Amino acid sequence: MAQIPGFYVFEGLDGSGKSTLSVRVLDLLNSKHVPAICFAEPTRYESGLYLRKFLSGEIELSPEKQIEAFLEDREVSLQRNILPSLSQKKIVLLDRYMYSTAAYQSGEFFSAKEILKKNLDRGFPEPEKVFYLEIEPEEALARLKGRDTTKDRFETISALTKIKKAYEEILPENTVRLDAKLSTEELVKLITEKIPY
Ligand code: TYD
Repeated sequence: MAQIPGFYVFEGLDGSGKSTLSVRVLDLLNSKHVPAICFAEPTRYESGLYLRKFLSGEIELSPEKQIEAFLEDREVSLQRNILPSLSQKKIVLLDRYMYSTAAYQSGEFFSAKEILKKNLDRGFPEPEKVFYLEIEPEEALARLKGRDTTKDRFETISALTKIKKAYEEILPENTVRLDAKLSTEELVKLITEKIPY
Protein backbone atom coordinates (compact mmCIF):
# COMPACT_ATOMS: atom_id res chain seq x y z
CA MET A 1 0.00 0.00 0.00
CA ALA A 2 1.14 3.55 -0.74
CA GLN A 3 2.51 5.87 1.90
CA ILE A 4 -0.07 8.27 3.29
CA PRO A 5 0.93 11.95 3.14
CA GLY A 6 0.62 13.75 6.44
CA PHE A 7 1.02 10.57 8.47
CA TYR A 8 4.21 10.50 10.60
CA VAL A 9 5.34 7.80 12.99
CA PHE A 10 7.79 8.04 15.91
CA GLU A 11 9.72 4.90 16.80
CA GLY A 12 12.52 4.02 19.19
CA LEU A 13 13.41 2.08 22.31
CA ASP A 14 11.63 2.80 25.59
CA GLY A 15 13.45 5.81 27.02
CA SER A 16 14.44 7.23 23.62
CA GLY A 17 12.27 10.30 24.22
CA LYS A 18 9.87 9.86 21.32
CA SER A 19 6.72 10.50 23.37
CA THR A 20 8.01 13.87 24.61
CA LEU A 21 9.16 14.74 21.10
CA SER A 22 5.90 13.93 19.36
CA VAL A 23 4.09 16.23 21.79
CA ARG A 24 6.67 19.01 21.33
CA VAL A 25 6.38 18.77 17.55
CA LEU A 26 2.60 18.92 17.92
CA ASP A 27 2.88 22.08 20.06
CA LEU A 28 5.08 23.72 17.45
CA LEU A 29 2.70 22.88 14.58
CA ASN A 30 -0.31 24.05 16.59
CA SER A 31 1.46 27.32 17.48
CA LYS A 32 1.72 27.94 13.73
CA HIS A 33 -1.98 27.11 13.34
CA VAL A 34 -1.22 23.95 11.39
CA PRO A 35 -3.99 21.39 11.99
CA ALA A 36 -2.27 18.45 13.64
CA ILE A 37 -2.97 15.78 16.22
CA CYS A 38 -0.95 13.30 18.21
CA PHE A 39 -1.90 9.70 19.08
CA ALA A 40 -0.10 6.75 20.64
CA GLU A 41 -0.20 2.97 20.42
CA PRO A 42 -1.21 1.00 22.41
CA THR A 43 -4.42 3.08 22.37
CA ARG A 44 -6.48 4.12 25.36
CA TYR A 45 -9.41 2.04 24.13
CA GLU A 46 -10.27 -1.35 25.59
CA SER A 47 -7.92 -3.18 23.22
CA GLY A 48 -5.05 -0.92 24.34
CA LEU A 49 -5.82 -1.23 28.04
CA TYR A 50 -5.71 -5.01 27.64
CA LEU A 51 -2.21 -4.65 26.15
CA ARG A 52 -1.12 -2.46 29.10
CA LYS A 53 -1.96 -5.40 31.38
CA PHE A 54 0.40 -7.53 29.34
CA LEU A 55 3.11 -4.85 29.33
CA SER A 56 2.97 -4.41 33.11
CA GLY A 57 3.22 -8.18 33.63
CA GLU A 58 -0.30 -8.54 35.00
CA ILE A 59 -1.18 -11.10 32.31
CA GLU A 60 0.90 -13.38 30.06
CA LEU A 61 0.29 -13.89 26.33
CA SER A 62 1.94 -16.27 23.86
CA PRO A 63 3.95 -14.57 21.07
CA GLU A 64 1.12 -15.31 18.65
CA LYS A 65 -1.52 -13.83 20.95
CA GLN A 66 0.66 -10.75 21.55
CA ILE A 67 0.89 -10.09 17.83
CA GLU A 68 -2.86 -10.65 17.40
CA ALA A 69 -3.64 -8.24 20.25
CA PHE A 70 -1.35 -5.48 18.90
CA LEU A 71 -2.85 -5.89 15.41
CA GLU A 72 -6.34 -5.73 16.88
CA ASP A 73 -5.50 -2.51 18.75
CA ARG A 74 -3.90 -1.07 15.60
CA GLU A 75 -7.13 -1.67 13.69
CA VAL A 76 -8.97 0.34 16.36
CA SER A 77 -6.26 3.01 16.32
CA LEU A 78 -6.63 3.41 12.54
CA GLN A 79 -10.43 3.38 12.46
CA ARG A 80 -11.05 5.61 15.48
CA ASN A 81 -8.01 7.90 15.58
CA ILE A 82 -5.74 7.98 12.56
CA LEU A 83 -7.95 7.69 9.48
CA PRO A 84 -10.68 10.12 10.63
CA SER A 85 -8.02 12.77 11.43
CA LEU A 86 -6.25 12.28 8.11
CA SER A 87 -9.54 12.68 6.27
CA GLN A 88 -10.04 15.97 8.16
CA LYS A 89 -6.69 16.99 6.62
CA LYS A 90 -4.87 16.99 9.93
CA ILE A 91 -1.23 16.01 10.22
CA VAL A 92 -1.13 12.85 12.32
CA LEU A 93 1.83 12.23 14.63
CA LEU A 94 1.79 8.69 15.97
CA ASP A 95 3.88 7.47 18.89
CA ARG A 96 4.63 3.81 17.87
CA TYR A 97 3.11 1.81 15.03
CA MET A 98 3.66 -1.49 13.19
CA TYR A 99 7.46 -1.18 13.42
CA SER A 100 7.15 -1.51 17.21
CA THR A 101 5.26 -4.80 16.89
CA ALA A 102 7.86 -6.08 14.43
CA ALA A 103 10.75 -5.08 16.70
CA TYR A 104 9.26 -5.89 20.12
CA GLN A 105 7.30 -9.08 19.36
CA SER A 106 10.03 -10.69 17.22
CA GLY A 107 12.02 -13.57 18.67
CA GLU A 108 12.19 -17.32 18.65
CA PHE A 109 8.82 -17.80 16.97
CA PHE A 110 8.44 -14.91 14.53
CA SER A 111 11.04 -12.75 12.79
CA ALA A 112 10.68 -8.98 12.64
CA LYS A 113 10.14 -9.22 8.88
CA GLU A 114 7.34 -11.77 9.26
CA ILE A 115 5.56 -9.58 11.77
CA LEU A 116 5.89 -6.52 9.57
CA LYS A 117 4.39 -8.54 6.71
CA LYS A 118 1.42 -9.53 8.89
CA ASN A 119 0.73 -5.82 9.37
CA LEU A 120 1.06 -4.98 5.69
CA ASP A 121 -1.10 -7.98 4.72
CA ARG A 122 -3.81 -6.58 6.97
CA GLY A 123 -3.81 -3.51 4.74
CA PHE A 124 -2.42 -1.14 7.37
CA PRO A 125 -1.20 1.98 5.55
CA GLU A 126 2.42 3.09 5.63
CA PRO A 127 3.34 6.53 6.96
CA GLU A 128 5.00 9.27 4.94
CA LYS A 129 8.01 9.12 7.26
CA VAL A 130 9.23 7.24 10.29
CA PHE A 131 11.25 9.27 12.81
CA TYR A 132 13.54 6.80 14.56
CA LEU A 133 15.20 7.97 17.75
CA GLU A 134 18.51 6.14 17.94
CA ILE A 135 19.81 5.33 21.40
CA GLU A 136 22.03 2.71 23.00
CA PRO A 137 20.17 0.26 25.28
CA GLU A 138 22.39 1.26 28.27
CA GLU A 139 21.53 4.93 27.82
CA ALA A 140 17.82 4.13 27.33
CA LEU A 141 17.73 2.10 30.52
CA ALA A 142 19.57 4.80 32.49
CA ARG A 143 16.95 7.32 31.37
CA LEU A 144 14.09 4.98 32.29
CA LYS A 145 15.53 4.50 35.78
CA GLY A 146 15.34 8.23 36.32
CA ARG A 147 11.62 8.26 35.56
CA ASP A 148 8.93 7.93 38.12
CA THR A 149 6.92 5.30 36.22
CA THR A 150 6.30 1.61 36.62
CA LYS A 151 8.59 -0.75 34.79
CA ASP A 152 7.37 -2.41 31.58
CA ARG A 153 8.40 -5.93 30.67
CA PHE A 154 10.86 -4.90 27.93
CA GLU A 155 12.91 -2.60 30.11
CA THR A 156 16.06 -4.74 30.45
CA ILE A 157 19.41 -4.51 28.62
CA SER A 158 18.96 -7.89 26.93
CA ALA A 159 15.43 -7.10 25.71
CA LEU A 160 16.37 -3.61 24.46
CA THR A 161 19.47 -4.95 22.68
CA LYS A 162 17.36 -7.54 20.85
CA ILE A 163 14.71 -4.93 19.99
CA LYS A 164 17.29 -2.48 18.62
CA LYS A 165 18.70 -5.20 16.35
CA ALA A 166 15.20 -6.11 15.16
CA TYR A 167 14.43 -2.45 14.34
CA GLU A 168 17.49 -2.46 12.07
CA GLU A 169 16.00 -5.34 10.10
CA ILE A 170 12.68 -3.70 9.33
CA LEU A 171 12.88 0.11 9.40
CA PRO A 172 11.63 1.29 6.00
CA GLU A 173 13.54 3.39 3.48
CA ASN A 174 11.64 6.51 4.41
CA THR A 175 13.05 6.43 7.95
CA VAL A 176 14.68 9.56 9.32
CA ARG A 177 17.29 8.51 11.88
CA LEU A 178 17.87 10.91 14.73
CA ASP A 179 20.40 10.88 17.52
CA ALA A 180 18.38 10.73 20.73
CA LYS A 181 21.25 12.46 22.58
CA LEU A 182 20.59 15.77 20.81
CA SER A 183 18.60 18.37 22.73
CA THR A 184 14.82 18.36 22.44
CA GLU A 185 15.00 21.75 20.66
CA GLU A 186 17.42 20.43 18.06
CA LEU A 187 15.34 17.29 17.51
CA VAL A 188 12.10 19.27 17.16
CA LYS A 189 13.81 21.43 14.54
CA LEU A 190 15.18 18.43 12.59
CA ILE A 191 11.79 16.73 12.62
CA THR A 192 9.69 19.75 11.62
CA GLU A 193 12.09 20.43 8.73
CA LYS A 194 10.94 17.08 7.32
CA ILE A 195 7.24 17.85 7.67
CA PRO A 196 5.95 20.01 4.82
CA TYR A 197 3.21 22.35 6.11
P1 TYD B 1 5.66 3.34 25.23
O1 TYD B 1 5.68 4.10 23.97
O2 TYD B 1 6.94 3.18 25.96
O3 TYD B 1 4.53 3.92 26.13
P2 TYD B 1 4.55 4.43 27.65
O4 TYD B 1 5.60 5.51 27.70
O5 TYD B 1 3.15 4.93 27.83
O6 TYD B 1 4.87 3.23 28.50
O7 TYD B 1 5.07 1.90 24.83
C1 TYD B 1 4.69 0.96 25.77
C2 TYD B 1 5.35 -0.39 25.54
O8 TYD B 1 4.64 -1.11 24.53
C3 TYD B 1 6.78 -0.35 25.08
O9 TYD B 1 7.56 -1.14 25.98
C4 TYD B 1 6.75 -1.04 23.73
C5 TYD B 1 5.52 -1.88 23.79
N1 TYD B 1 4.92 -2.18 22.46
C6 TYD B 1 5.08 -3.44 21.91
O10 TYD B 1 5.69 -4.32 22.52
N2 TYD B 1 4.52 -3.70 20.69
C7 TYD B 1 3.82 -2.77 19.99
O11 TYD B 1 3.32 -3.04 18.87
C8 TYD B 1 3.66 -1.45 20.57
C9 TYD B 1 2.87 -0.41 19.84
C10 TYD B 1 4.23 -1.21 21.80
